[in-house]
Amino acid sequence: MTVRAIIAGSGSALPVRRVTNDELAQTVDTSDAWIVERTGIRARHIAGEGETTATLATAAARKALAAAGIDAAAVDLIVLATATPDQTFPATATKVQDALGIVDCVAFDVAAVCSGFLYALSVADNMIRGGGARTALVIGAETFSRIIDWEDRTTCVLFGDGAGAMVLTAEADSDRGILATALHADGRHNQLLYVDGGVSTTGTVGKLRMKGSEVFRHAVVNLAAVLREAIDKAGLSVTDVDWVVPHQANARILDATARKLGLPAERVVVTVDEHANTSAASVPLAFDVAVRDGRIRRGDLIVLEAMGGGFTWGAAVARY
Ligand code: COA
Repeated sequence: MTVRAIIAGSGSALPVRRVTNDELAQTVDTSDAWIVERTGIRARHIAGEGETTATLATAAARKALAAAGIDAAAVDLIVLATATPDQTFPATATKVQDALGIVDCVAFDVAAVCSGFLYALSVADNMIRGGGARTALVIGAETFSRIIDWEDRTTCVLFGDGAGAMVLTAEADSDRGILATALHADGRHNQLLYVDGGVSTTGTVGKLRMKGSEVFRHAVVNLAAVLREAIDKAGLSVTDVDWVVPHQANARILDATARKLGLPAERVVVTVDEHANTSAASVPLAFDVAVRDGRIRRGDLIVLEAMGGGFTWGAAVARY
């Protein structure tokens, strides 16, 4: 008997406030034309008072549970990927657990920045296949607006806030579910994308710093390689893929990666125009949008991928 982690349902949540490029251009030296041409981003959602990583994560989790038709009481594992937790500790996953009224389950956070959801998904998949969990909530949630330097035009136009969630359930001998995952990290690149603060260094939260063009170069190479690796691991080929759901950092990275792999652009889910880069939230958020608008259907072969600070990167192949 082979047990697999099935994607039983998904959900997502965005802060109420939508901020356009023109609005940003009122406070920093930028323009809608520059942002759209270099990134494909037109707007992003920014968390307001009372909106936090935990509240967005909880809203996404509730929708995912409703879509799966599963009661919160059945959840025995919550893995939440975030680089912007509500508190240094305890884990934001435990705040979601409490908000959902789950009295006992395993709950912890995973920090792999923009690849966080792929890391969280892989951990949950392994726990389910190993018998350590049966019903998992896997969440990516961020409030990057709180670590952005709003005076740095090279970074502040790129990011947004949001959350996405999936419910995974254990199913025996199914042809659906997560078929393969591949994860990587290379800590030599810390200084290309990082936050200049931290609990045990400066004692401050810090702000995001990035050498954008160097990140861009690494992203295309690493993402194309890890996509191929995960597809190979699943014993499939690029032509079997119905949808790629990439980390939404920059439309040009999505185009270049798809071209490198020989994947038609119409098979790539793009939401960066409306959400910008929501870090760990971006993959499950894009996935949920594409499920709800009818692009991704049951039985489709999907590939998820992301790369982020560290560097960390990863991919997953699933039959939805
Ligand atoms: N508005 C207007 N001009 C801007 C600007 C902005 N928001 N940001 C940068 N510029 C300027 C720069 O100052 C530079 O001017 P200069 O030539 O006079 O020095 C010029 O635009 C070009 O900057 P450059 O950084 O070379 O542009 P780019 O084509 O590399 O695009 C990014 C910049 C950040 C959009 C791009 O590098 C990128 O997307 N990188 C990957 C980032 C990423 O995905 N990070 C997250 C990974 S998880």
